[in-house]
Amino acid sequence: MNNYQGERVPKENLETFVEEIFLKAGLDEEQSKLIARHLVFANLRGVDSHGVSRVGIYTKRLDKNLLNKKFEPVIKRESPVSALIDAQNVSGIPVATYGMELAVEKAKKSGVGIVGINNSNHCGMMADYVKKAVDNDCIAIATTNAPSNMPPWGGKERFFGTNPFSYGVPAGEEANILFDMATSKVARGKILLAEKNKQEIPLGWALSPEGTPTTNASKAVDGVVLPVGEHKGYGIAFLVETLSALFTGAAFGPYIGDLYKELNHSQNVGQFFLVMRADLFQELETFKKRMDQIIREVREVPLMDGAKKIYLPGEMEMETAKEREENGIPLSLEVIDELVQVAQRYDVEPSLIQTYV
Ligand SMILES: NC(=O)c1ccc[n+]([C@@H]2O[C@H](COP(=O)([O-])OP(=O)(O)OC[C@H]3O[C@@H](n4cnc5c(N)ncnc54)[C@H](O)[C@@H]3O)[C@@H](O)[C@H]2O)c1
Repeated sequence: MNNYQGERVPKENLETFVEEIFLKAGLDEEQSKLIARHLVFANLRGVDSHGVSRVGIYTKRLDKNLLNKKFEPVIKRESPVSALIDAQNVSGIPVATYGMELAVEKAKKSGVGIVGINNSNHCGMMADYVKKAVDNDCIAIATTNAPSNMPPWGGKERFFGTNPFSYGVPAGEEANILFDMATSKVARGKILLAEKNKQEIPLGWALSPEGTPTTNASKAVDGVVLPVGEHKGYGIAFLVETLSALFTGAAFGPYIGDLYKELNHSQNVGQFFLVMRADLFQELETFKKRMDQIIREVREVPLMDGAKKIYLPGEMEMETAKEREENGIPLSLEVIDELVQVAQRYDVEPSLIQTYV
């Protein structure tokens, strides 16, 4: 019997704990650190669907040798402004981090950096990659394709993934813009988390396997998730698929290995990063001043009935990060339970994340 309760865990404890798990799962120190930092950063920003609730499935796939544990991606094609990386089936987070860093390096030298990655795996929360470019005074777009769970608008069977689209823009005195959305009505991770936490989902997020709207998270997991904004979300998902997979040579749509269900082969996901130095057209200071101006003016638009405030893209997550940095990261009992089980498998001490009653 576990006598602990789901409560707040300090960020540092969670990071140390997750890092140790990935080390024991066979990854080197650098990859383990990158994955731990990325997942905990997602939780810190309130993107719990892409945080430590992924430790279970990531380690399960490592245990089954479905990923290459040795970090050995290869640059297959290169120009001063671009690179195509064959990830060689390593973990998605470390190779996507490497890909974005390479795109930033190229943008700093040549103005623009475009990096495509094929033969990759699930890489988590796209905002993390975009932030790396923004922190280097660049504008960036990041996409990845994902296992098929969403129909094209008008269809009822899975074809596209929930294909996230993320962009970031540096500002001056104001906070940088960091937008990051699944092209489905919600990220499928939110439905998986609701299932794990035994919660219902709002109507309109997904269809059951029979094709009817459902609030049952398990039925939604077996069914399809719907595109955001109907044909418009489908249109953006198509672009994300094109950039991440058709352009890079990765598998597309139904040919991607499902992270959870297909535990007998690799995923072959693709990622795409476009980074542009923010001073390409104007002096950096001028650009940033204008970004500050638009941010302030947007914020001051009169509110519609019922609204309390206008948020800028990424602002909510920033507020959550500030609060969780101070008070710790809330984890549900279900997520803690799963982490404890993984810890036991690898003989990792779970007390770092347990809050005893
Ligand atoms: N790696 C993968 O395969 C994969 C697949 C799908 C999604 N994801 C990730 O899932 C995460 C969650 O996606 P989501 O679509 O559920 O995010 P979301 O709907 O919570 O937020 C989307 C964006 O809208 C902004 N936003 C939210 N409410 C706002 C408001 N009231 N005013 C202004 N802006 C607002 C947020 O800051 C965010 O940038 C993302 O980090 C994404 O990268 C990853």
